[in-house]
Amino acid sequence: MQQARSRRAFGTSAAAGQQSSNDSGAAGKKAGTPDTPQPAGTTKRSLTFAIGGILALLGVTSYTLLRQPSGVPVEVATQSKPTPSSTQTALESVATKRSDALKKLDSLTNKERREEAKRLGLLTAEEVDAVLHAKENSWFIEPVAGGSRLRVDTNQVSSNDPLEDYLAWTTLSSNATNRHMFSVFDGHAGYLCAEQLAARMGPMLDKSLEVIAQLAELKKGIKKPEFEAGDKALVKTIRQIEREAGLNWDHVPLALTATFINMDYELVTGALAEFRKQQQLMRMDELLGPAVSGSCGLVAVVDTEAKEVVVANTGDSRALLGVRLKNGTWKAVRLSQDQTADNANELARMAREHPREDSVIHRGRVLGGLMPTRAFGDCRYKWPLEAQQDLFPILYSRGHRYATTPPNYVTPPYVTARPVIVKHMLSDDDKFIVIASDGLYDQLSDAEVIGSVSQWYEAHQMSASTLTTEDDNAATHLIRAALSTDQSGRRSDTYIRRLLAIPPPHSRRFRDDISVTIVTLNAE
Ligand SMILES: *[C@@H]1O[C@H](CO)[C@@H](O)[C@H](O)[C@H]1NC(C)=O
Ligand SMILES: *[C@@H]1O[C@H](CO)[C@@H](O)[C@H](O)[C@H]1NC(C)=O
Repeated sequence: MQQARSRRAFGTSAAAGQQSSNDSGAAGKKAGTPDTPQPAGTTKRSLTFAIGGILALLGVTSYTLLRQPSGVPVEVATQSKPTPSSTQTALESVATKRSDALKKLDSLTNKERREEAKRLGLLTAEEVDAVLHAKENSWFIEPVAGGSRLRVDTNQVSSNDPLEDYLAWTTLSSNATNRHMFSVFDGHAGYLCAEQLAARMGPMLDKSLEVIAQLAELKKGIKKPEFEAGDKALVKTIRQIEREAGLNWDHVPLALTATFINMDYELVTGALAEFRKQQQLMRMDELLGPAVSGSCGLVAVVDTEAKEVVVANTGDSRALLGVRLKNGTWKAVRLSQDQTADNANELARMAREHPREDSVIHRGRVLGGLMPTRAFGDCRYKWPLEAQQDLFPILYSRGHRYATTPPNYVTPPYVTARPVIVKHMLSDDDKFIVIASDGLYDQLSDAEVIGSVSQWYEAHQMSASTLTTEDDNAATHLIRAALSTDQSGRRSDTYIRRLLAIPPPHSRRFRDDISVTIVTLNAE
């Protein structure tokens, strides 16, 4: 599969448009970003507007975003199959209905919109199917000696335009090939940060595992490793974490922690240093765009030989394990902790790290703005104040609407990308793992998620079963359930037909992007 979205270019105006969809979100539901950021330093702004304008006149409006990752290929979710013409027709009629609805909704006030959205024409059942099937994907991973077979089902249904979630997966090359990475990156303030994570997480994780194995050999006095210059920062991060955490930490948790920290260092601090060194305004968006944007990240490493799963989580995506008990009932087990103000551990950590700052969590958000308490990117919660004062006016004028300093910005950094790790030894009762962005959990409880996927499992993975489900793809089956269930937990086909008729950006008031990966263990 190709990295279809990886070479997207954007200009200053496109960046502004893309972020505006973001702050329109959120009434009632979650949104990762602040409501109305105000530019800092308005006088400087007019000057930097002029610079932006001159660059635009020179035709400097588009940039290739992705730095080429090295090492293992990473598959990033994208529409993979040719779309049948009947589906294409249905998708076109969805687009027409949504664009008519958009004209209607744009002319209304927020309050009127909420009412009007309930009166929009419904999609047909065929149109709903076309939307639900457009990005689904499903495949098997065959075991190498000693492992077991996995089935993977993925799907994404967007609310933001463009979608700000990314899914990425790869088979790790280090230590045999029964180690597989599955991940979800839920972007906010645009997609730029999530896009980088999706492309670079797999290769960097592999590199971390390699470095850790070499360091282990060094300790045993077997071989002196030779690290490449480009890996120096990563090696330093790994050694630092080992010193803090004790030397006998397992390789995979250590590698995940080091990778998350080093990745964020590259995106936020490294990119800033690079920009200051080069002083090239032309490269500003490419280098600093991903730092201004932000993303949650959840990475699960499933080892089918060692029979373990290790989950690293930064933010509010969630991994769940579906367990089938001996008597046939199903149980949901969380493999990650949400990092938001609802998590008492996170509140305590924030208070400890920023003593005497009462407003560090304000209205349930970091400095009143950011919903997750840990995240990648989001330099408005990380850069030193001087760097923000220096660069934010220019970035803002170039369309980066989140390049603004939050109120009460006293002791940065306020947000870390350091993950919380959960390790679980897999037993025969453990049947599948659900990895999803918070858009899914806005709609369904853990028990409802496992309940829904267990129906699919019993129909598709138990040989004697006579059950069937409407969708062959487990992720599609789950997303259909999520979008068909209303606030009071009632399920109806009318609900999803109405919900999917609402056009972006207004849809963001009713639903978030939903991205799901389901990994079936010991698949038939
Ligand atoms: C490789 O995997 C095997 C089996 O899971 C494990 O015993 C061994 O310690 C691993 N080696 C490294 C370097 O991670
Ligand atoms: C199945 O077993 C679990 C734990 O052993 C128990 O809590 C549950 O009530 C049982 N359910 C039924 C229907 O027997």
